[in-house]
Amino acid sequence: MHITGDMKMVDVVQHDIQLLAVIQRFEIPLGFREKTVKEVCDGHEVNVDFFLHIANSFHDKEFLDWQKFKTFPIEWIIRYLKNAHRCYIDYRIPEIERQIQNFEKQVDINEKNIDLLLNFFRKYITEFNAHIEQEEKNVFPYIIRLNQLVNEPTSEGIDTSDEFFIKQYHEEHNNIEETLFDLKSILLKYLPPPVNNCLYNNLIYDIFRLERDLLDHAELEENVLYPLVKEMEDILMSNRSNK
Ligand SMILES: [Fe+2]
Ligand SMILES: [Fe+2]
Repeated sequence: MHITGDMKMVDVVQHDIQLLAVIQRFEIPLGFREKTVKEVCDGHEVNVDFFLHIANSFHDKEFLDWQKFKTFPIEWIIRYLKNAHRCYIDYRIPEIERQIQNFEKQVDINEKNIDLLLNFFRKYITEFNAHIEQEEKNVFPYIIRLNQLVNEPTSEGIDTSDEFFIKQYHEEHNNIEETLFDLKSILLKYLPPPVNNCLYNNLIYDIFRLERDLLDHAELEENVLYPLVKEMEDILMSNRSNK
């Protein structure tokens, strides 16, 4: 399905429930009534072309066009990424942790296994938080400053200490979804499911969904954000050497 602005928002979500996550990241509340995608976007000051591009890309990879992403303002992309960060940190990660803790109440899983699982996941949370913090405290503000500098050459410069560092950061940008793959493998391969198999399946399903979501997120950073930043850095470098 190719999502268009004249479709009803409720039909779009009925067709692909995963798009609820995209809608949340645009800060659009539910309660769409009979409104079209365009009407809902207009009502919440969301650019409908940007919304459609993200929704279509994540709904069906066939519509994915990284070059087209680069035509939208970089601030919109960063805002979208930051809203996704909030969702992971405030809800998705604590929910998975809570589900693992719940297994302690299950009698037929060895306590030691639960502890191992919890330790593994808590280590992951630390790694995850550090990743997000680095992006929000250093990378994103740097990109915003860089963008100002390219678009308004009279604005304040950037510190020499953090100049042109995106290449290095990009090389170090680790894949935070990979550890989730390992966690899922441990659950599937080694841990016997508890009495309530439903809870166990639910946990695996939630980890799988988060892993997929993080993969889309990382791809947006890798294929859109960083190449855009590299282009801006190159412009500034050449301006500087031409002076
Ligand atoms: Fe991120
Ligand atoms: Fe990232």
